[in-house]
Amino acid sequence: MITERGRYLILQGKNVSYILRIHEEGYLLHYYYGKKLRENDYTYVPVEIRSFYTFAPDRVFLEGEKQEYPAFGYNDLKEGAVQVLENGRDTILSLKYKAHEIIDGKPAFEGLPSSKANGENCQTLVVTLSDEAYGIEIRLSYTVFDDSDVIARSARIINAGNGPVCLTKAFSCSLDIAGKRARETDMITLRGAWAKERNIERHPLFQGISEIGSRTGESSHYLNPFVALCDRTATNASGEALGLLLVYSGNHRFQINVDAYDNIRAMCGIHDGGFRWDLAPGEAFQTPECLLCFSAEGLDGMSREYHDFMRAHILPQRFRTAPRPVLVNSWESLYFDFDEEKILNIVRHAKEAGIELFVLDDGWFGHRKNDSTSLGDWYANPEKLPSGVEGIADKINALGLKFGIWVEPEMANPVSELLEKHPDYPIACRKHPPVLGRNQQVLDLTKREVVEFAKSFLDKLLSCGKISYIKWDMNRSMAEITEPAFVHRYYLGLYEVLGYITEKYPDVLFEGCSGGGGRFDAGMLCYHPLIWTSDVSDAIERLKIQEGTALCYPLSAMGSHVTACPNHQVGRVTPFSTRANVASFGTFGYELNVAELSAEDKSEIKNQIARYREIEPLVREGDFSVLVSAFSGGTFTAWQLTSKDKKRAVVLCVRTLASANAGRDFVRLRGLKEDSMYARKGTKEIYSGGELMYRGFLPGLPGTDFASVLSEFIEID
Ligand code: DGJ
Repeated sequence: MITERGRYLILQGKNVSYILRIHEEGYLLHYYYGKKLRENDYTYVPVEIRSFYTFAPDRVFLEGEKQEYPAFGYNDLKEGAVQVLENGRDTILSLKYKAHEIIDGKPAFEGLPSSKANGENCQTLVVTLSDEAYGIEIRLSYTVFDDSDVIARSARIINAGNGPVCLTKAFSCSLDIAGKRARETDMITLRGAWAKERNIERHPLFQGISEIGSRTGESSHYLNPFVALCDRTATNASGEALGLLLVYSGNHRFQINVDAYDNIRAMCGIHDGGFRWDLAPGEAFQTPECLLCFSAEGLDGMSREYHDFMRAHILPQRFRTAPRPVLVNSWESLYFDFDEEKILNIVRHAKEAGIELFVLDDGWFGHRKNDSTSLGDWYANPEKLPSGVEGIADKINALGLKFGIWVEPEMANPVSELLEKHPDYPIACRKHPPVLGRNQQVLDLTKREVVEFAKSFLDKLLSCGKISYIKWDMNRSMAEITEPAFVHRYYLGLYEVLGYITEKYPDVLFEGCSGGGGRFDAGMLCYHPLIWTSDVSDAIERLKIQEGTALCYPLSAMGSHVTACPNHQVGRVTPFSTRANVASFGTFGYELNVAELSAEDKSEIKNQIARYREIEPLVREGDFSVLVSAFSGGTFTAWQLTSKDKKRAVVLCVRTLASANAGRDFVRLRGLKEDSMYARKGTKEIYSGGELMYRGFLPGLPGTDFASVLSEFIEID
């Protein structure tokens, strides 16, 4: 709901208010974003001018006010959200309110992924700011959803003048946070590297700029496009938390600016390093969307809001409620070494074990024997698959499994028929020998012919109608970028391919991947309801990665597989049950040679799948809580999934390391009905919701390394 009251524009979400104020002199001020406020003739006290600072002739001290979309250089010398060049010189923007409109629903974005109404009530406020002297107009867009505390923001920058201009910074969002002091606020980021993605890092804010970003051509393994600001005292269960998250997969930058008076300005958008975007008169630039999320119920509250929002407004809706097939992926069992018989052998045993889909990973095309050749040559390797993709799909289907296949459409090996024929397809500075990553080059998706190539080979592959699942990989960062804003243009090309192919084949389930989780972002989730979380598949390593990822991304978006032991990345040996338990807090599957398992393990797989099927509705739709964090440094981790009606809760406890003479590990649940009675499944234990939440229960977690226990509580009459 959006209302206008005097100079105030008021957005009311489920539990939040976002309030803007149009200043008497025309500036667009931020008044508030946080816990819901009732509507009022709010009190505004102008900030007094400080003599050492800059102020416009209208004597408004903008640097001290809270603004919606600040520009650097005139009456505000803090970091701005937008920078424009005219004739090669910086413009000095003074942006003033020009008009606003309130639209029912949410207008679609052109060329970029964004959240969608998907049948839920929402309204969009568009406020136009203008600097007439320079002919720049900026349309700020805010969508508020009745069912959510997320506010979707973006900006559209228009050259309304007579001559060309050039954008050198065009952030999606800036928020001068009301009601918070920097010295009482922490910043949380999701940091990492390959096989260590999205580990939670938390640090106090300080005067100056705390920032994260990526310039590697993807949202990256290193720093995910997400930042949370929370009370210093906030925990998973309590305190205020405010998130900023970009619906974008390319280079990004988040800047948290703390001024001398402890005010916080949080901004994010496309990374402005090397960014230049020319705008001819009348042309516009659309920024990616930023999802702001506020919760007064701790970090878990923020996570829950993001999860619900992404399920309802980001993920392709076709896969929102449908249970996903339990798959077995060939990578960790066969790598590049397979033929039809090896595949079919796994498939036969997988069928016996109750697995529903087989994914043929890397190595099936061209003359690929290892990672040095053939990317780009998307026809079946004649030695490995003599009956072609359709042939193997038919044989797998005949054995009762669905068929999925791996592709890496954005890449080519220099040793490939594709690059022999089209040496101009990859990105290259052409002054030095091409720089390789995993022996491959990135195809230049800013070129029309490359976009068409990707569309047409995918189309050809999928048109056989026998492929139910695509794993879309991307295994290197971008380098040798010579054109400004190249990476953004690349993503416009990539999103075009993704939009085309996912719309044309709506029943195919797409799994995103980028050397594991190098492109785990809300932009990709608009096309791929599922992303391979990380190349490390060890259950204990996965605890931190999955908990970090769940800080803002829903569990069903995380591909998580049970793999063989000793684990291929870290050599650790963990119980089969723990591997399955951890994997079941995501979209569950296997990545091991089922044909080599004992009959006992195969029947255990049946049990694991049956258990996962019971938990799966909670993974897809339930509330996730961190009871004992994987980052707490303790000897065990505990997570909870609760159904929305609070009638069921599943608790996973995992011993991360045994410790001698350990105490008894009581675990306290959250979010149950205090006065209801709950039975612990498989035991005679009965608890009240209050007892489970305030006293806790003893999960009976063995003291040995890597043991785990999955407990389920069900409300009884
Ligand atoms: C990286 C992925 O993360 C792996 O799962 C696997 O698909 C390999 N690429 C294949 O090259």
